[in-house]
Amino acid sequence: MDGNHIDAEVIKEAGNIIREGGLVAFPTETVYGLGGDALNPRSSEKIYRAKGRPSDNPLIVHIADVEDLGRIVREIPESAEKLVKIFWPGPLTLILHKSDIVPYETTGGLDTVAVRMPINFVARELIRAAGGYIAAPSANRSGRPSPTTAKYVLEDMDGRIEMIIDGGDVQIGLESTIVDLTLDEPTILRPGYITRQMLETVLNEVEEDSTMMCEDSRQAPKAPGMKYRHYAPKGDMTIVTGDAERVIEYINTQVDFYRKQNKKTGVIGTDGRMASYRADVCKSAGRPDDEKMIARKLYRILREFDDENVEIIFAEAFATSGIGFAVMNRLLKAAGHKVVRV
Ligand code: TXA
Ligand code: MG
Repeated sequence: MDGNHIDAEVIKEAGNIIREGGLVAFPTETVYGLGGDALNPRSSEKIYRAKGRPSDNPLIVHIADVEDLGRIVREIPESAEKLVKIFWPGPLTLILHKSDIVPYETTGGLDTVAVRMPINFVARELIRAAGGYIAAPSANRSGRPSPTTAKYVLEDMDGRIEMIIDGGDVQIGLESTIVDLTLDEPTILRPGYITRQMLETVLNEVEEDSTMMCEDSRQAPKAPGMKYRHYAPKGDMTIVTGDAERVIEYINTQVDFYRKQNKKTGVIGTDGRMASYRADVCKSAGRPDDEKMIARKLYRILREFDDENVEIIFAEAFATSGIGFAVMNRLLKAAGHKVVRV
């Protein structure tokens, strides 16, 4: 089902499943979500169980209409009003102080709540049909790359949830930008399509959680979910950065080494260099200067490595402008911060 072909009957049925405490996976513009009633503590518990996710990792509450924000937060600060006006509906999640009707099961025990209003029309119709508030993490089993197409939701969730709405491929491919508005300064906890530069056109200054791009085990990230090894393929992944020729040479030497041990090798990189790699499976995420395409293809490629049983994976480092910063954030996590400079 897509935004131009809404099946009202199916939306109604899906809404009823959620109202009755069940779970429905659905498309958003970022990644597929695993939805349950955000105001029902039992539903949130079910979500954690279906995902195999630790329950201290809070869920994002999805709404369909701006007027619905007021009921679930204690107050709407001016900064939130400004951001909502420009970026909602869209791939931006705001952290605000929660109101009493939001159960702690949904917020992982926190007094704050994450809220987002997706632009995807199927998602918004479903949210309305379900009563207005859908808690939805990405619809993957915990630790795996977020699903960018319904096939991968089915792979992870078959038998664990009541329904999947197939809305085709997502447009963005990486999870929403998360901005915490409960701290002294607005702070990005997870980078995404909406960049710091874009946020700073609306708010004067925006900070970044310092743990976002580095591996500092002494400091906990402010978004509890960001502390887990995440988005990870089953194979062992290393990012190789440096001059193009030396990156190719290094990866090929490693590939030869692992091949002798009968390990299946893979490379994820960009157009133009693919023919130079000797790995068993070589996948291009797009042109080096097309960060949006790379973002859209990243998780699919990581899952394809799993499908093809690739054991050792090497990744080129991608450009970090625009959404490229978020791409590198996810890639670093997928690689467990294993980076080789050549
Ligand atoms: O694009 C998205 O945001 C997707 C789609 C489905 O909307 N959802 C998504 O949800 O990525 P999830 O659960 O996979 O990631 C939510 C992140 C986690 O890292 C979690 O720790 C953080 O948001 N989070 C949620 N509530 C929070 C809060 N109150 N304070 C800090 N971080 C929070
Ligand atoms: Mg997730």
